[in-house]
Amino acid sequence: MKIDPWSSTTYQDYARLRDEFGIQEFSEDLWKHLPHPHRLLRRGVVFGHRGFELILNAIQKKRPWAILTGLMPSGRMHLGHKMVIDEVLYYQSLGADIFIAVADIEAFATRGFTLEEAKELAVNEYIANYIALGLDPKQCHLYFQSRHQDVKDLAFLLGKKVNWSQMVATYGFEGTTNMAHIFSPLVQTGDILHVQLEKYGGIRPTLVPVGVDQDPHIRLSRDIAQAHRLYNVTVTKDNKIGVFVKVDTQVKELLDAAEKTLKKLQFTDLKRITDYKAIYINTAKEADIPGIDEALACIEPSFHGYGFLQPSSTYHRFITGLTGEKMSSSKPESAIFLTDTPQEAKKKIMNAKTGGAATLDEQKKSGGKPDDCMVYELFLYHLIEDDDELQSIYESCKKGELMCGACKKHAAEEMEKFLRDLQQKRTKALNQIQEYLH
Ligand code: TRP
Ligand code: SF4
Repeated sequence: MKIDPWSSTTYQDYARLRDEFGIQEFSEDLWKHLPHPHRLLRRGVVFGHRGFELILNAIQKKRPWAILTGLMPSGRMHLGHKMVIDEVLYYQSLGADIFIAVADIEAFATRGFTLEEAKELAVNEYIANYIALGLDPKQCHLYFQSRHQDVKDLAFLLGKKVNWSQMVATYGFEGTTNMAHIFSPLVQTGDILHVQLEKYGGIRPTLVPVGVDQDPHIRLSRDIAQAHRLYNVTVTKDNKIGVFVKVDTQVKELLDAAEKTLKKLQFTDLKRITDYKAIYINTAKEADIPGIDEALACIEPSFHGYGFLQPSSTYHRFITGLTGEKMSSSKPESAIFLTDTPQEAKKKIMNAKTGGAATLDEQKKSGGKPDDCMVYELFLYHLIEDDDELQSIYESCKKGELMCGACKKHAAEEMEKFLRDLQQKRTKALNQIQEYLH
C-alpha cells in the first residue's frame, strides 16, 4: 500500500460537498496536462472545478485566456487569502491575462465598511501583499469595483436576466436585506464577465480561482452568461448536434451567420430548419460542441449580443486554522497574518493543534496523524515545495520517528524565512504603490 500524503479526512468532506453541488473533481487527469503544475494543484488543495476543460484547451492550443479573481478587503490578509494569489501567479506564468478586483463595493455592502476604509485596507494590506508575493501590477489589471464604470454598468445590465426568486433561492436574501448587498453578487458577475468585453480582450475562456464558498457567485455568473447567449449548441434528442437561435429577432440573419461559421469550421452536411430556428450538423460529434460554441459566441457581438462564454472556476479547500477551527481574521490565534512578525507566528505555531499523541512514548509507538495536523497543513499548503521532502515528513510522522516539538520548530523556521522576506518586499511595495493604481 502506498502512503498518500494528499488525502486526509477533511478531503473527504470536501468531496461530499463537491458532489452535492455538481462541482467536477479536479483530478490528476486534468492537472497532469499543465506545465509544471503548482503544488496546490498537485496536492489536491484545489479539489474541484467547473468547465476547466476550456482553460486546458486554451493553454494547449496557445490561445488567449484570462484569469479574474477578487478579494474583499475586510480584515487582515492571512495565509488563506494567499492561496488565490499563489494560483494567479502560477497561471500568469502560463500566459493568462490577469485581472484582480478589489471588492470594495462588497465590503461596503456586506461588512459595513465605508469605501474610504475599504480603500485604505486594500492598498496597505492587500495590494501591498500581492506585490510582495510577486504580482507585478504592471502585468495585470488591478482595479476597485467602485471605480470601474464598465463593471458597474454590466452589473446593472446583466441583472435583466435574473429575478428576485433566483436571488432568494441562491443567497437566502430577505425583505430586510439592504439593496446594496442584493446588488453585490451582480457586481461580482460584472467583475467576472467584463474581461470578455472587446475592450478588455474580447470573448475568451476565463478562469476564476476561488475558495469553495464563492460557488454561488460562480453559478450565478455562469447562468447569466448562458442566459444572454443568442445561440445554443447542444445534443438533440435523436443524438445529433444542433445549433439553435434563442431569440426572436434577426433569426434568418443569425442562421445565415451560423451556417457560414460552421462551413468555415469545415462542417458539411448541414440541415437548416428555419421554422425551428435550428441547424443540425450531421457530421459533428459531442466533443466538437465547445469549439462550435466558441466560434458562434464570437459572432454574437455583431448582433448586439455579448457572446460571453461561461466562466470556468476552480475551488480550493480552506486551510484549517492553527486552533483546529476555521482560519479567520476575527480569531487572531487561528490565523497567521502576512503582517505577523516571525515571533508572533512562531508562538502561534508552537501552540498549534497537531496530530501528535498524548505522550512522547505513545507517539514513538503508534506514530502521529499528519492528516489531522495543522502544522502539516502549513507544510502542505505553503512551506514545502518539494514533494519528496513533504512525503518524508509525512512518513516519519506516521512511523513515530518525528516528534511534534521538532516538527513545529521546523515549521516556525520556514515561516520565519517566508515572513521576513515578505516584510522586506512589502516595505518596498508600499513605497511604489500609488503609481500602480489606475
Ligand atoms: N466575493 C469575493 C470575496 O468575498 C471577492 C470577489 C469579488 C471575487 N469579485 C470577485 C472573487 C470576482 C472572485 C471573482 O472575497
Ligand atoms: Fe504534525 Fe509534525 Fe506532530 Fe506529525 S510530528 S503530528 S506532522 S506536528
